[in-house]
Amino acid sequence: MGERLGVGFIGSGFNARFHLQGFRGVRDADVLGVWSPNAKHAEETAALARKLDVGETKPYNSIAAMVADPAIQALWLCGPNFARIENVEEIAHAVTGGKGALTGIACEKPLARNVAEAKRVVALVKQAGLKHGYLENQVFAPQVEWGRAIIWARGAALTGRPYLARAAEEHSGPHMPWFWRGDLQGGGVLNDMMCHSALVVRHLLTKPGAARSTVSPKRITAHMASLKWTRPEYVKRLGQQMGPDVDYGKRPAEDFASLIVEFATDDGHKVLGEATTSWSFVGAGLRLSAELLGPEYSLSWNSLDAGLKLFFSREVKGKTGEDLVEKQNAEMGLMPVVANEAAAYGYEAEDRHFVRVFLGKEQPQLTLDDGLEVVRVLMTAYQSAEQGRTLDFPPQGLDDFVPAVAKGTWKP
Ligand SMILES: NC(=O)c1ccc[n+]([C@@H]2O[C@H](COP(=O)([O-])OP(=O)(O)OC[C@H]3O[C@@H](n4cnc5c(N)ncnc54)[C@H](O)[C@@H]3O)[C@@H](O)[C@H]2O)c1
Repeated sequence: MGERLGVGFIGSGFNARFHLQGFRGVRDADVLGVWSPNAKHAEETAALARKLDVGETKPYNSIAAMVADPAIQALWLCGPNFARIENVEEIAHAVTGGKGALTGIACEKPLARNVAEAKRVVALVKQAGLKHGYLENQVFAPQVEWGRAIIWARGAALTGRPYLARAAEEHSGPHMPWFWRGDLQGGGVLNDMMCHSALVVRHLLTKPGAARSTVSPKRITAHMASLKWTRPEYVKRLGQQMGPDVDYGKRPAEDFASLIVEFATDDGHKVLGEATTSWSFVGAGLRLSAELLGPEYSLSWNSLDAGLKLFFSREVKGKTGEDLVEKQNAEMGLMPVVANEAAAYGYEAEDRHFVRVFLGKEQPQLTLDDGLEVVRVLMTAYQSAEQGRTLDFPPQGLDDFVPAVAKGTWKP
């Protein structure tokens, strides 16, 4: 048996549970700790980890206590966006205080709510001397990974580089109130989900093995709208479901966004990335899709073409759930099923990769610098949408920019 990595989790919510499923496919790591402000939730998530057999997981009283335990060498940061800075400050403080044996930190998307916060996260982690990884699962989704590798090896090698990539992430709306609040989350769906698609298009357009800087963003055009959740009946429904702090009559966020990024490539081409995202898509459930187009080839992926469909007649009036697909909207009729979502969405391969990075066996495919670059693209997109025009990248004032949605001043 080779060297093993002891992993601790910050946050015990929806995303942490996805990673725990992912760790079932990682052979050289043990999930040993969970910290979350709610001790009961931390204990429940630790119990889930033990049940999944991914480690002798126990809850900790604080982030500092987890860092101080030499059994834990890496942290997976899965707390809410509004707590990024305080979480990373506590980690950095504990590390520079000389306790424990922490070597790496992997942080969920988006890296932060705006560029200033993202820069602070990067600076703290670098000052603490930690290895770092940016958790963008879709880059590791098996279909994206295999499709990209084969398209580039066959189509692009013989007929020229791809010129257009498309990506989308759509569902009917987030599961927790804080996601809906611009001040806490950083924006609406553009911040929450365009972070995936904005990186996926660039990733697909980049030759495997080449630096991401070989495809660099030059001009950005974005659009955003509130299509569904500011309709009076849905303002009311959202308030009922998420509580009185979510009031889209007063402080709405966008539930649709689109983005076109013009990239310059190191081989002298202009190529395009086109992304859309929405919280106003009512289909079977979460739909991830991507396309890559070149002179004599194309790729297409849709996560709801999952290969498994179940049919339930109107006599099957079961409970609502998420057992068929994430963000499931129905339990009747012909329904697609994503059989192993943690693998299908890329969590498993992502977790395997970053464990190997922190064990010193691989170079990181995504670092916090990539996470910062995504935030810079997203904040440019907000500026473009607010001003209704195409912007050169990076635009002026990017480092201090805060979207109107986050400030609570956006009027759709
Ligand atoms: N990669 C993906 O597709 C994906 C999917 C979902 C969420 N995420 C990201 O993961 C992160 C967590 O999202 P989620 O869906 O698990 O949210 P969630 O609300 O379900 O869970 C958040 C967890 O953080 C804990 N928490 C609350 N305050 C905290 C604090 N101050 N410090 C640390 N933890 C705190 C909560 O108790 C909870 O356990 C977010 O940044 C989100 O954007 C990524």
